[in-house]
Amino acid sequence: MARATEIYSCQTCSSSYKKWQGKCDTCGEWNSIVEETGKEAVPKGLSTGKGRNLVFTSLDEDTIEHKRHMCGLAELDRVLGGGFVPGSSILIGGDPGIGKSTILLQAVGIMAKRGHSCTYISGEEATQQISMRARRLGLQDSPVQLASANSLRDIVTSLEKSKAPDLLIIDSIQTMYADNIDSAPGSVSQVRACSQELIRLAKKIGCALMLVGHVTKDGQIAGPRILEHMVDTVLYFEGDRGHQFRILRAVKNRYGATDEIGVFEMTDKGLSEVANPSSLFLNNQDREISGSSVFAGMEGTRPLLVEIQGLVAQSQQATPRRAVVGWDSSRLAMILAVLDSRCGLSLSGMEVYLNVAGGLRVQEPAADLAVAAALVSSISDIPVPENSIIFGEIGLSGEVRAVGQTDARLKEAAKLGFTAAIIPRGSKVKKSTLKIIEVEHLSEIVRLFTGKKPDQSVKAS
Ligand code: TYD
Ligand code: MG
Repeated sequence: MARATEIYSCQTCSSSYKKWQGKCDTCGEWNSIVEETGKEAVPKGLSTGKGRNLVFTSLDEDTIEHKRHMCGLAELDRVLGGGFVPGSSILIGGDPGIGKSTILLQAVGIMAKRGHSCTYISGEEATQQISMRARRLGLQDSPVQLASANSLRDIVTSLEKSKAPDLLIIDSIQTMYADNIDSAPGSVSQVRACSQELIRLAKKIGCALMLVGHVTKDGQIAGPRILEHMVDTVLYFEGDRGHQFRILRAVKNRYGATDEIGVFEMTDKGLSEVANPSSLFLNNQDREISGSSVFAGMEGTRPLLVEIQGLVAQSQQATPRRAVVGWDSSRLAMILAVLDSRCGLSLSGMEVYLNVAGGLRVQEPAADLAVAAALVSSISDIPVPENSIIFGEIGLSGEVRAVGQTDARLKEAAKLGFTAAIIPRGSKVKKSTLKIIEVEHLSEIVRLFTGKKPDQSVKAS
């Protein structure tokens, strides 16, 4: 049992240690052990009778529906669930240089022009730098209150004394510094203390708070995991450096859905919103090429068509390469295994490359059938039927399973000029102008491209 003298504890699994060490023996995490403030890790029992009695209410208690503030960047407002909720706190994470400061400066710039009061505090850039960027974005006339500061005490004092803004941006939480804590900005205890204080302040003065968070090299928001529990909403701003578009994704939202995405394009005048993202991810060149299929996916409530490219080539190596961009590599391994054992199409001596065009990351299992079609099409060198979209999940026995939101997917495809759809049998199609081709088993896809019976093995052309 933990003794009262132990004062170092693991931030991941909460094991206690007498001395600091680099690796936690219990959970194996590195650099997760920190000194807990206070002398005793295990407090003595609470004596009853000293607390106040709680006042319990019921679930149907009258609530005042807070009026949300729309910032005017429609994609951001939608991802937030319909604008900023006063008193709420939002954390936005993303790789360095992805455009976090840019999107937030645009949000406050547009929002302030619409008559809301907005405060932007940067701990990373000087005010001149931010003004320069605002000029480039055409927002120099916007009445944003701008400051460059790192001291939490200064920020809290200034905000408590003046009229509360509708939106407060802190860029970034890792640069903020509480002078009552003895560690450097960005350390676990500083980040925790600063965010706690800022969230308390936002609730007290009733302004929406947006914190920018740095991410670690594996893409998590740096600092204590508890930060993500403390805030109401966690957003990730992501994108591929080689591509111009950026995606804003909510991973936690107490005031809206978490499967919404916002799509932006980085231009020389800042981020511009992309209202019709499907057109961004499809290339309009000749569709008559083998190894390419169009997947009708869903991102939240919004359908999104993306092109999936597959390439199967003879390998000279003992272990053929499998490279995946934009999709899950273990899911690809599963599809290759199903093609092999259920459809008699062995790719064991082949290199397999899979790419989601445009740099998007697809996460839906519904893309299975489109991936399989792209691969089989590449092997047989026969293009996917012209102007057709594909979706469906593949089970381990090779069966094609129906997926949700069939109608929304078909409608988007029809809107973009597609004329046929290869979909799972048993999908509930209400009404569609597309020619529907239903498939029940993956071997039907193999037959479609190779013309051979599923149990005959197919050689690369
Ligand atoms: P920034 O918002 O500073 O990134 P973060 O705060 O996430 O670190 O984004 C900077 C990048 O955006 C930089 O590489 C240049 C690019 N950018 C443009 O392409 N156009 C623009 O109008 C602006 C302001 C930035
Ligand atoms: Mg920045």
